[in-house]
Amino acid sequence: MDNFRIETRCFDLTTLDETQQQQVFAEAGEVIQKGGTVVFPTETVYGLGADAMKTEAVQAIYRAKGRPSDNPLIIHVADFDLSGIVAEVPPQAELLMKKYWPGPLTIILKKDPRVPSETTGSLDTVGVRMPDQPVALALIKASGTVIAAPSANISGRPSPTTFQRCREDLDGRVDMILGMDQSRVGLESTIIDLSGQIPELLRPGAVTLEELREDLGEVIYRPSESLKGDEAPRAPGMKYRHYAPQAAVTLIKGSSMKVRDYMRKEQTKGTLLVFIDSENYDQQIRQAGTTDGVNSQNIIGERLMGLGANDSSEQDVWLIHFKSVEEAARRIFETLRKADDQDAQAVWIEAVPETGLGLSLMNRLKKAAAYEIREV
Ligand code: TXA
Ligand code: MG
Repeated sequence: MDNFRIETRCFDLTTLDETQQQQVFAEAGEVIQKGGTVVFPTETVYGLGADAMKTEAVQAIYRAKGRPSDNPLIIHVADFDLSGIVAEVPPQAELLMKKYWPGPLTIILKKDPRVPSETTGSLDTVGVRMPDQPVALALIKASGTVIAAPSANISGRPSPTTFQRCREDLDGRVDMILGMDQSRVGLESTIIDLSGQIPELLRPGAVTLEELREDLGEVIYRPSESLKGDEAPRAPGMKYRHYAPQAAVTLIKGSSMKVRDYMRKEQTKGTLLVFIDSENYDQQIRQAGTTDGVNSQNIIGERLMGLGANDSSEQDVWLIHFKSVEEAARRIFETLRKADDQDAQAVWIEAVPETGLGLSLMNRLKKAAAYEIREV
């Protein structure tokens, strides 16, 4: 990755009043108009944006991110009128837009010839979504154009869900960074391809496969682990190493009781344990009529702490306990980054059932774990 450095202006919008925020949106809109790059919050993860309709602006994104330029970008819009972006809006797309926009759903459609091929990685289709985040919508409107934006991480790192992580990765590589709170969803948008005969789910997200099948009838989904050998993934981004921290990630699969027992018994120095409560868990605990045996003071929220003999003093082993799949989805990328901050040697994560949001969470976790799954 090239080592260029540019001046980055960072704004923590949570510290600004309405008038000051409007001022920042106006300036950020101008940066986009001039072909510059602006990092901004969305409800899924933070995005690294530039004018989707300008070749050089889009090239600046790939350069800042260190990303291969054959990997297409999603166009972010603030308006339901997609003329000039897509060739046509079929009825199924109309239905999904009405139901889920603004929201975490990207729709792939045949592209309008005016969209530069740099934006779509030379494909004849384009991904479009309207984010459900006031700052993102204000920025798009202020720019007077539509904004191409991948997740705002250096290529290969977990997607950023906080202002702080965006600065760590991109301060010095983009023109502006706009910070808000932690992203609400925490996983990138669902991607549905409506450019072919049958709708195909390319990336599961907060809009679930079950919901899409209810809306559209037949929807194809080919999990990336089912792709054989050199078969090309349909969303080109899926072929790159993703989400993985330095530490080796392993998914532990089985009943919650067994998984947690196993983790506590087998963990070695420098391991980060991640428990996730899912329906699976609740049922287990209900049946057994017992708790999971961890001191309840040690299992709240995202705190990292020592376990076992040395307890919190030595921080040999850490535990994070998510109380729901939603909570785990919201914080999983931050957790993987924390594992690196703490120099964790290994990360063991409890697998969850692959339904609803669980399918999307497991999709990211399997990649982080390079499909290393241990059944107990
Ligand atoms: O939630 C999100 O979608 C975030 C925020 C910033 O909106 N963006 C995001 O972008 O995750 P990115 O670039 O990290 O992931 C986009 C994915 C890639 O896997 C890419 O290959 C796929 O979308 N994609 C984009 N356009 C496509 C197209 N025309 N056909 C197939 N896949 C496409
Ligand atoms: Mg990404």
